[in-house]
Amino acid sequence: MTKQTRLIPSLLAATALSVAAMPTQAGSSTDEAVKAQLQDYKATMQAFGKTLKGELQAAMKAGGPMAAVQVCNERAPEIVADLSAESGYTLRRTSLKPRATEPTDWEREVLEDFEKRKADGTPVAEIAWHEVKKVDGEKQLRFMKAIATEGVCLTCHGQDVDPKLKAEIDRMYPNDQAIGFEEGDIRGAVSITAALDD
Ligand code: HEC
Repeated sequence: MTKQTRLIPSLLAATALSVAAMPTQAGSSTDEAVKAQLQDYKATMQAFGKTLKGELQAAMKAGGPMAAVQVCNERAPEIVADLSAESGYTLRRTSLKPRATEPTDWEREVLEDFEKRKADGTPVAEIAWHEVKKVDGEKQLRFMKAIATEGVCLTCHGQDVDPKLKAEIDRMYPNDQAIGFEEGDIRGAVSITAALDD
């Protein structure tokens, strides 16, 4: 939906002309574009959370944590890839204590800021961030939202993970750092980036 203008170069050219003719409007039109695209990001993120949690809970019920860990291992990256392909956005899940996905430098800075905001008393559910950044001449919209550790996460990310399960996790992720969490901790964040469609 947000990609339509890319397919219609003549419309894009017309828009550029009309923007040039209205010198004072540029700022507010960017604000509107950011707002609309963030709305889309949040919908994509919710779709991800809902799909993964549904599959995780079903696997947990059917086969316990040893089956559920396969879902996280195989399906989480697939769901991320599918949603990225569908939306055209770059979607990632990362953490200061990663299991699979190390943060980039800017993601690490944002995650560190999230920890400060939590320490200052901001509820994890409200911790999010975005910025518009020019990268290689392209205006990008970067967005991150904190993911809270819930009770069900502790089976695989908590303080006393079952040794057999931990051995399986270590086999899959020899550099695993994603254990020792408590309920309410920031487990990590979803990060979404794409060109800003303004
Ligand atoms: C059955 C085990 C299991 C459970 C339960 C589980 N996870 Fe994970 N988690 C994993 C595995 C395995 C990965 C690595 C996935 C991959 O390869 O992308 C992972 C990765 C992640 C990541 C990506 C960042 C990183 O560390 O690489 C986040 C964020 C995350 N989990 C959050 C959660 C949250 C929040 C919950 C609870 C709602 C949860 N997990 C429950 C096994 C689990």
